[in-house]
Amino acid sequence: MAKISVLGAGSWGTALSILLSNNGHEVRLWSRFQEEVDALRETRELTSKLPGVHIPEDIDITADLKDCIETAEVLVLAVPSPYIRSTSKLMAPDVKKGQIIVNVAKGIEENTLMTMTDIISEEIPAAAVYVLSGPSHAEEVGRGIPTTCVISGPERETAEYLQGIFMSPVFRVYTTPDMLGVELGGSLKNVIALAAGTADGLGYGDNTKAALITRGIAEIARLGTKMGARMETFGGLTGIGDLIVTCASVHSRNRKAGYLIGQGYTMQQAMDEVKMVVEGVYSAKAAKSLAEKYGVEMPIIMEVNEVLFENKPAADAVRDLMLRDKKVETPMLPW
Ligand SMILES: NC(=O)c1ccc[n+]([C@@H]2O[C@H](COP(=O)([O-])OP(=O)(O)OC[C@H]3O[C@@H](n4cnc5c(N)ncnc54)[C@H](O)[C@@H]3O)[C@@H](O)[C@H]2O)c1
Repeated sequence: MAKISVLGAGSWGTALSILLSNNGHEVRLWSRFQEEVDALRETRELTSKLPGVHIPEDIDITADLKDCIETAEVLVLAVPSPYIRSTSKLMAPDVKKGQIIVNVAKGIEENTLMTMTDIISEEIPAAAVYVLSGPSHAEEVGRGIPTTCVISGPERETAEYLQGIFMSPVFRVYTTPDMLGVELGGSLKNVIALAAGTADGLGYGDNTKAALITRGIAEIARLGTKMGARMETFGGLTGIGDLIVTCASVHSRNRKAGYLIGQGYTMQQAMDEVKMVVEGVYSAKAAKSLAEKYGVEMPIIMEVNEVLFENKPAADAVRDLMLRDKKVETPMLPW
């Protein structure tokens, strides 16, 4: 059994701590905020986000980052993506050479266009950085609902070691060498989920949702393969799998924010209402910059940006998507 420190005590960090503890590992859960630590210790529950989900007594909840790092074989980094760089900077002095960090945050940094594992590797060059991603809402993992994910990273043996650590009868883990594809799928799906939520908020139906999911993954794959990721990954759990769950689920904060925008809220009003980090808003800008940088057509991503940042009415964005130039669905196939 391994000693594991989970850094970030939000929904996902808490749910993963419970999973890892149930798997028999020695788990510590870190938050940067002492008041959060005190509340979690007192109630043994993340009342606001995972009500009714008990945090086992043997999970040590702490604000001592240095100790968490020094005592762990594996670090799971579970803070929201806008805080990955600042948290990595805090961690860097204590991480040992070769220490494993598993990133579970989903996002692309707005100004640098870097993935989360790129940022961690830049800030903590000593670390061996891996990623865990897939269609996995904390609300369901916390309740032991069967879920599947994917681990990726530089070394196959380490990926398989981590697969064994997370795997349980309710949490099935696959491995893949395509780290870039895993991270791009996990980040860009949040932008498409904003669009899917907006369509729901406008009162559109399942046809529209299916169109956004299918054309959305086509856009993500077009960009991803141009950047060097593998096409197969976008047809897998971290591609279409995560996109489906995020566009359809009641738990998705990106879909929820989009829904409010479809109902007429501004982006800021929607963010305030959801009261959590809506990562798709950050990734939307990054996705637009990546599309421009790599010369890839991403019409849904572009319309989401106009709705979010240029106050374009959502219904106009949908009409413009419908009335784009006529296209072939499968441009690579000969007649
Ligand atoms: N929630 C899910 O179902 C889920 C599933 C898979 C992946 N993820 C990814 O995991 C990451 C975390 O998501 P979440 O749902 O746990 O988010 P969350 O909003 O619940 O996380 C909030 C927590 O982050 C920490 N935090 C906040 N500000 C911080 C700061 N400035 N510095 C350090 N820590 C800070 C605090 O512990 C806070 O409680 C995200 O990137 C998300 O995309 C989430």
